[in-house]
Amino acid sequence: MASQGAAEPLSRRLSYSQCWEDWALLDDSLDPSPGDRVLSIASAGCNSLALALKGAHVVGIDLSAPQLALCELKLAGGRLPYLRFLALLGLAEGDPLEIYREIEPALSDRARDFWRGRPDLLVDGVLCAGRFERYLATFTQRVLPLIHGRRTIRGLIDAKSPAEQRAFHDRRWSSWRWRGLFRVFFSRWVMARLGRSPEQFSQVRGTVAERILARCDEVLGGQPLHENPYVQWILEDAWRDIELAHPYLTRQGHAGLAAAAERIEWVHASLEEHLPACEPGTYTAYNLSNIGEYLPKAVWDELYARLLDAAAPGARVAYWNLFVPRACPTALAGRIVRHSQRSADLLARDRVPFYGAFVLETVR
Ligand SMILES: C[S@@+](CC[C@H](N)C(=O)[O-])C[C@H]1O[C@@H](n2cnc3c(N)ncnc32)[C@H](O)[C@@H]1O
Repeated sequence: MASQGAAEPLSRRLSYSQCWEDWALLDDSLDPSPGDRVLSIASAGCNSLALALKGAHVVGIDLSAPQLALCELKLAGGRLPYLRFLALLGLAEGDPLEIYREIEPALSDRARDFWRGRPDLLVDGVLCAGRFERYLATFTQRVLPLIHGRRTIRGLIDAKSPAEQRAFHDRRWSSWRWRGLFRVFFSRWVMARLGRSPEQFSQVRGTVAERILARCDEVLGGQPLHENPYVQWILEDAWRDIELAHPYLTRQGHAGLAAAAERIEWVHASLEEHLPACEPGTYTAYNLSNIGEYLPKAVWDELYARLLDAAAPGARVAYWNLFVPRACPTALAGRIVRHSQRSADLLARDRVPFYGAFVLETVR
């Protein structure tokens, strides 16, 4: 498999132990159901599992073997009683290694090799073990306490009305200290070294921190945070209610995992390798995460053409832009329908306070 640019660091490590792309946007835009065949960037598995829990057949693809090992682990956890499943993931009392041994026979050789080599990730709590989650934890545990006390954090999350929240955010939260330390911690330099890698920024032009800060202002000042699991994890290092977290973690979601396993295949490849080998009409929907972010424009354009070739008429294509603007190439615009207003409306509801754009396009 080609390992260049961002693919090189991503392929050799566990970068993400949770998906930081809001499932609610995928659910709304892709409207997954039985009969769908979805190509989904696997990443930490959360969104691919959620798609399969909705009844879709899912091909979860990733160029990273560690990411796929995590996806398999989460899926195999469907064989466990609920509390043991949570303990495997570090969310309840129990010995993750002992529980891991129980589900190991359900894993592929590739996943088994990975976990045997990295039992420390299970011991430390696997949902905190990704490079990006460790970076966020440094923010939550070391940087945020220098800015706001627990009472202020609770005050923002528990605001009683949108007006009270906006006023609290603007007067108390968005202090010079918040803005200053945020700009340093979420700068390109720090993020590339602690949370992602320099290669993941190779296509990025312009400022990074300022753009995330602007999006944070919108989400922290304007969205209900008591029901936002993504912001709760970033500000409080935990979810308040697991029933509002990723669907596979809820009691009902977990109960559906064993059946969902019948509908999921994990593919270890890059999208660039996989798509040219697909028959026309293979996929009815795509979750592309924000992979366009890492690809030079010419490579993205070629990938998008192959994606269209592999799509069934009416297929939905959903993805995010973080810092790099990516959309259906102009030369292929006649083959899709853009949903600009709907995409903008969905971004306004995005509970993850990072992204510059959400894109939904439909194949003609
Ligand atoms: C696109 S990354 C993005 C995560 C997060 N939204 C961010 O911006 O930091 C999510 C996953 O995509 C995988 N990935 C990136 N480029 C890919 C490609 N061209 N083909 C397949 N998987 C890819 C990575 O290995 C990773 O597990």
